[in-house]
Amino acid sequence: HAPFRVALHGISVADSLAALDRLFKADVDPARVAAIIVEPVQGEGGFYEAPREFMSALRKICDQHGMLLIADEVQTGFARTGKMFAMDHHEVAPDITTMAKSLAGGFPLSAVTGRAEIMDAPNPGGLGGTYGGSPIGVAAAHAVLDVIEEENLCDRANTLGNRLKQRLQSIRDDTPEIVDIRGPGFMNAVEFNEVKKGLPSAEIANAVRLKALDKGLILLTCGVYGNVIRFLAPITIQDGVLNEALDILESSIREVRAS
Ligand SMILES: Cc1ncc(COP(=O)(O)O)c(C=O)c1O
Repeated sequence: HAPFRVALHGISVADSLAALDRLFKADVDPARVAAIIVEPVQGEGGFYEAPREFMSALRKICDQHGMLLIADEVQTGFARTGKMFAMDHHEVAPDITTMAKSLAGGFPLSAVTGRAEIMDAPNPGGLGGTYGGSPIGVAAAHAVLDVIEEENLCDRANTLGNRLKQRLQSIRDDTPEIVDIRGPGFMNAVEFNEVKKGLPSAEIANAVRLKALDKGLILLTCGVYGNVIRFLAPITIQDGVLNEALDILESSIREVRAS
């Protein structure tokens, strides 16, 4: 309903906030809005990071109108961005956080946490589901939390992400189709444009994805233009496996460029 700040696509924090303001003037009375839910780093949307001033502004808007600020940390949580939660990069706290995916290292488990008065509001049994609180899932989550601490996975996420971004940067030096390399920790992305028109190119991103698939590396695209390749490999990946992936990625980009 309102554009997310993406400097690369000409949308500033001010544009984003102005659109939100217009929304509350023209489309919906803010008194009728229960919550704003935001991904601190967009997932499917293209791996764009919410700037700190944007998150602080959302917090202020929520406080002003009595809305809750919900952080969707389903992709960003559990050391992915170099901190335990992506909201730890911000100066403000959400009222509610949603989490899943890495929470139990692949076992089916999701969680909602928040301020006590919110979490205590439902009646007993009012917040649940068929698979809620699966003992195996919960045990897996405990093991994940131990491993994150024991293996310093927040630091490891930064190390791995830097390695990936450095490799992409070296490819970018002679690949003008690469217009952005980004992402905190090990939640990274590379964005492709068609050089002559200077427009987002889903074709290039897809061609790289297919070339890599031929060579045994599974990549996923994302973003509103489909021109982004995202990287969300396990933070426990071994160095040798990452290097193999980076070599395939590099040769795939270079071969697409040459074709
Ligand atoms: C950022 C984000 N939020 C929420 C969801 C949905 O999570 P779940 O499948 O646990 O409902 C996803 C799923 O991919 C996601 O990426």
